[in-house]
Amino acid sequence: MVTVITYGTYDLLHYGHIRLLERAKALGDYLIVGVTADDFDRQRGKINVQQTLEERVAAVKATGIADKVIIEEYEGQKIDDIKRYDVDIFAVGSDWKGYFDYLQEYCKVVYLPRTEGISSSAIRSQEHSVRIGMVGYSAFLNKVYNESQFVNAVDVTALCSSDFSKLEQVRQNVLFSTSDYAQLLDKVDAVYIHSHPDLHAKQIQQALEAGKHVLYESPMVMEKEQYTELTALARQRNLILMEGIRTAYMLAYSRLLLLVKSGKIGRVVSVDATCTSLSMYENYGPHSKKWGSMEDWGPTALLPVFQILGTDYTDVDFFTLNDPADDGIDAFTKVNITYPEATATIKAGTGVKSEGELIISGTKGYIYVPAPWWKTDYFEVRYEHPENNRRQFYQLEGDGIRYELVEFAHAIQKGNGEFYISRDVSRAIVDMMERFKKR
Ligand code: CTP
Repeated sequence: MVTVITYGTYDLLHYGHIRLLERAKALGDYLIVGVTADDFDRQRGKINVQQTLEERVAAVKATGIADKVIIEEYEGQKIDDIKRYDVDIFAVGSDWKGYFDYLQEYCKVVYLPRTEGISSSAIRSQEHSVRIGMVGYSAFLNKVYNESQFVNAVDVTALCSSDFSKLEQVRQNVLFSTSDYAQLLDKVDAVYIHSHPDLHAKQIQQALEAGKHVLYESPMVMEKEQYTELTALARQRNLILMEGIRTAYMLAYSRLLLLVKSGKIGRVVSVDATCTSLSMYENYGPHSKKWGSMEDWGPTALLPVFQILGTDYTDVDFFTLNDPADDGIDAFTKVNITYPEATATIKAGTGVKSEGELIISGTKGYIYVPAPWWKTDYFEVRYEHPENNRRQFYQLEGDGIRYELVEFAHAIQKGNGEFYISRDVSRAIVDMMERFKKR
């Protein structure tokens, strides 16, 4: 019996896939098809896949061509599979020509001509992608634009700013730029709001009233009452109002949360998160309002606190150092948060530098995420006995902004923007900002 094996993502299964499977099967008697797991795809930078692993496996099975379907989960697995299933021929489309020659040591490698004129990427791009308009003035928007180029499901088409001085790059690339927000709303399906938090309430309300989905750079607003009104409006209009804390959408961070929730370090007693960056101010245009350290970093630093310890804290106190150049703005803020049986601290700095690490302490062990933890691909689970320590690594491409955009598009498709950050956590962040302002 001649056993043939082939691999692919098989997203939105098309006749190019079917023809490949048929020809692979014809090379022998028994065909094994490896379908890539979601994680493996994400780790190798393929972030636009639309169907879940389950759906893709079902589609491959439904062709009736494969004799066996397996899941491809890790780098190098092909060698293991070839040995395990005693494979005679490895077959793949000619777009991979040469790439898998290293497998010749284990079996015959055949590159089959690829079917012209069709691909999963082409099908995905035919679908209507979400047209996003960006609002703000900091140089960060240039990064967001660049990252959006990796995401099929969104198209950043417009920019609205009161100060374009830091935004020449995006301005040249988008189809439309304006300083009139109402005009921007006319041209897009959704907005990404990165303006000063004081402006968010009005801008979010206007976007929702115009029927546009919103991704806002956290904090949403600075007062709880505004929060309640805006979330109610979004619900009533069936629109996505999603928290833009990019850390939440990164694989390493979301895996870390699951690990903590599954009890790997016992009961969590303390969460300590520090986020600082001195360059933050330089990113804003000369005429733009600066953000304080809490506005800039508070939401990100509070994210693991609320997601791990919950939002029912009993006490909070602030230590703040004002920016000597601008008295109204905090350059450094430390917040102590007390829970009945746990404690947390966050440190946020735009005028003070510190080690940007995250430590989650539990009754059995702790998790250490090195600086800058908010865009990490790596963390360690540490125990009393170092031989039990575990290191975890997850690929992170670019600045991670692309994952947030992918999830925004998914949220719009599925009608649920709370999968990664629940409303409770968003509300608690706004509540903390209000307490900070009124302290
Ligand atoms: N394939 C093919 N002809 C096509 C498209 C894909 O022969 N027109 C083959 C690929 O060479 C591979 C298998 O089908 O051996 C699975 O490919 P996959 O990467 O899942 O599909 P693509 O359509 O190439 O996906 P994408 O556009 O996301 O790269």
